[in-house]
Amino acid sequence: MKISVFDSGIGGTTVLAEIKKLLPNEEYRYIADSKNCPYGEKSDQELNQIVTKNVEKLKKWGAQIIVIACNTATTRCISYLRQKYPELTFVGTEPAIKLAANTDAKNILVLATPGTIASERTKSLLKENQKTGQNITLLACPGLADTIEKHYQGDHTPIRTKLAELLANAPKTPDIIVLGCTHYSLIKEEIQDFFPSTKLIDGNLGVAHQVQAQLHQS
Ligand code: DGL
Repeated sequence: MKISVFDSGIGGTTVLAEIKKLLPNEEYRYIADSKNCPYGEKSDQELNQIVTKNVEKLKKWGAQIIVIACNTATTRCISYLRQKYPELTFVGTEPAIKLAANTDAKNILVLATPGTIASERTKSLLKENQKTGQNITLLACPGLADTIEKHYQGDHTPIRTKLAELLANAPKTPDIIVLGCTHYSLIKEEIQDFFPSTKLIDGNLGVAHQVQAQLHQS
């Protein structure tokens, strides 16, 4: 089966790794669209154009499943893509708010791009899953994905500086942090240093299971 995965850069490799663990024998293609990074600070119109270009490339390659390994592109564009390409199968990546809310955590912090935080889909995820007495704080992190994209391969000091700036006003001891951008899964260690006793989660394993389910259906 031809499975393709795209993101605005290296973030989606964390999703790809999870899928490959579960499905090692498929044929993969990955698009790291770093020239358009950050997706999280673009308008819907710009984003729709960008994701359409990616999908056209993957369609030509013969992709049978297209994994949007990006919370921003999923929360903002997946409905548009499903409407535009009803013949293709899309699997998206969403902030793992459901997973986090479905625990006894009292305080949950969601870190994501400004685009994901502002999306209608994130609002619905909150509305559908937040339990009584549970605090869920949404924190938009402008510039973080971009900084990770630029500095992940080298010295991480700029990433730590950006995190410190963004987390200055965040709740200090959340029970769970939802990593609502696939780039953030690359810097779990750095985030954990700010919150030593907090559990960090992302939706990557859930995406891998969805891809597996799609595969078995076809
Ligand atoms: N990695 C992406 C996400 O999950 C996009 C980050 C960006 O380009 O802003 O949201």
